[in-house]
Amino acid sequence: MKTEILIIDRENINKAYIKKAADLIKEGALVAFPTETVYGLGADGLNNEASKKIFKAKGRPADNPLILHISHISMLDNLVEEISESHRKLFDLWPGPMTLIFKKSRLIPEAVTAGGDTVAIRFPSDEIARALISEANTPIAAPSANISGRPSPTKADDVYQDMDGIIPLIIDGGESNIGIESTVIDLSGESPTILRPGYYTYEFLKEILPDMRLDDSLVDSTKIPKSPGQKYKHYAPKANLRVFIGENVPDYLLDLAEEYKSQGKKVGILAFDEDKDKFASYPYISLGSRIDLSTMSHVLFSSLREMDRLKVDIILAEGVRENHLGKSIMNRMKKAAANDVNYI
Ligand code: TXA
Ligand code: MG
Repeated sequence: MKTEILIIDRENINKAYIKKAADLIKEGALVAFPTETVYGLGADGLNNEASKKIFKAKGRPADNPLILHISHISMLDNLVEEISESHRKLFDLWPGPMTLIFKKSRLIPEAVTAGGDTVAIRFPSDEIARALISEANTPIAAPSANISGRPSPTKADDVYQDMDGIIPLIIDGGESNIGIESTVIDLSGESPTILRPGYYTYEFLKEILPDMRLDDSLVDSTKIPKSPGQKYKHYAPKANLRVFIGENVPDYLLDLAEEYKSQGKKVGILAFDEDKDKFASYPYISLGSRIDLSTMSHVLFSSLREMDRLKVDIILAEGVRENHLGKSIMNRMKKAAANDVNYI
């Protein structure tokens, strides 16, 4: 299959391109598209056969359900059973990087829920994503558009690396702003529960719904996550990623890098701007400033993919404290590093 890439300018959306993509979705084909978090691999979310193609394209385990993307709150009514009045407060954060899980309606095909009785819904803020969903006139089922286990794609080129020859169309809308996936909140149980931390943090969400809690697995790593997707090894670059947290990490990384280098290994460094001069003799990608983690979330996945392009053997990275956005970032980093996270 030939994979076409159509570049769409968010400020001046090409309607013919959106129509072409929406027609493919309606025909049951897969289309990759940008969102504000990461790129999604979309299918008609009310078409079981189309949604099944997503699992094949990604090599995704069959027990891992998909998120349905909507372009208007009113689309919810047909998709979910009931919405509690207090939970509606969260709708103020839509459109945006938040996914809500409800009891599913009868309309939802089996492939989307992976056989479960709940459905995940997200209303993205990205204008291209919304134009596509509106034009297709159906909720679009979309996981991140990577091969399962690889870092999520934050630009069209990342999608192309994983999906070339597998899907007919990628919409190129430039870089995803946020860079890590949406916060997933389960509203189907006793109290609202964060299953996957994201841009909207626990501390922030608790101010909106005081009974908001974190899934047990996010507090105690020996507990099994409620969200199927959180069980799997994830986001792994080809190189070994090692993460270090604490005082004087940059000097520690430098010593370690010298040691690996003397063993003939090619080392890449992910560290903060404040220390970049130290790493002049290594492949280095900046995580932005230590005092504003939004750059770190924006570049995290793309920097892992870039280190693979540079063919490094080992990536040494500085990690951060696990609160606020740092909790969401470390959730991804730990998986990408297969838990090689060291407090020094
Ligand atoms: O930002 C995002 O959420 C991106 C963009 C494309 O919207 N999508 C995304 O999808 O990250 P995916 O499939 O890579 O991750 C969805 C996560 C998985 O961990 C999955 O297990 C969980 O949400 N999930 C989906 N439906 C669920 C459900 N009904 N119950 C529990 N977890 C669910
Ligand atoms: Mg994913």
